[in-house]
Amino acid sequence: VKKAIIIGVGPVEGLGARLAQRFAAEGLHVIVAGRSGDQLESLVQLIRDSDGTATSVVADATREEDVAQLFDVAGDDLDLAIYNAGNNTPGRIVDMEAAYFERSWRVGCYGGFLFGREAVRRMLPRGGGTLLFTGASASLRGRANFGAFNAAKAALRTLAQAMAKEYAVEGVHVGHVVIDGAIAGDKIRKGLPEYAEKLGEEGMIDLDGIVDGYVYLYRQSPRAWTFELDVRTAKERW
Ligand SMILES: NC(=O)c1ccc[n+]([C@@H]2O[C@H](COP(=O)([O-])OP(=O)(O)OC[C@H]3O[C@@H](n4cnc5c(N)ncnc54)[C@H](OP(=O)(O)O)[C@@H]3O)[C@@H](O)[C@H]2O)c1
Repeated sequence: VKKAIIIGVGPVEGLGARLAQRFAAEGLHVIVAGRSGDQLESLVQLIRDSDGTATSVVADATREEDVAQLFDVAGDDLDLAIYNAGNNTPGRIVDMEAAYFERSWRVGCYGGFLFGREAVRRMLPRGGGTLLFTGASASLRGRANFGAFNAAKAALRTLAQAMAKEYAVEGVHVGHVVIDGAIAGDKIRKGLPEYAEKLGEEGMIDLDGIVDGYVYLYRQSPRAWTFELDVRTAKERW
């Protein structure tokens, strides 16, 4: 059975968890990785209750040894790997601690390198696979008060683009999804309830709609590959 690894999996009402549920429904064995073992375990249970198969691994995307161990759990037949880890890191540069900027880069970019490297190491011997990265509005433009996040996400995007060109001929399809706006999930609803209320349901991007984009990329034939998809609500001004 084909396997998928998704890192950056949190609450059920979040992108990582929704991706895991959908790819399990598509018939893949899904290995879900993140920092909260409890959240991962309840997701695995949900997937099993829907007749899917999944394994959870507690891993920090910024730790080289955690990432290597995660791929060891997958073993052979890794067909899909998704780098979804990341939290927004707002802040003005003038006040910013150097360590804060570095942490933002570690999860936003360096972790993508560690994960992408292990993924291609596993995929090349089997003749290919799909490697997808989660981006944000920040991937494409700098914005006041978001310099650290912008720098990390833009670097992740060009890393993904370089890898797409480096490994295409060997069968690895690398893609990048620009999520241009707030996701209608726990991160915004619970973390920033006033912002969520201001945006309204119609102003937040639908989780299932985003997941559709990942499935679309995964299913593409090597004769018509997309590198980048963007997704936003009809209300978004961009
Ligand atoms: N939410 C939005 O509005 C929005 C908008 C545009 C783009 N995005 C992008 O979408 C992705 C996440 O989507 P989401 O907001 O719905 O969240 P999510 O997929 O529900 O959860 C992301 C998970 O990544 C985890 N994570 C953070 N740092 C990590 C690390 N070093 N190692 C392992 N896991 C780590 C977080 O864990 P902790 O809870 O422990 O931090 C969280 O559980 C991110 O790449 C984000 O930049 C989100």
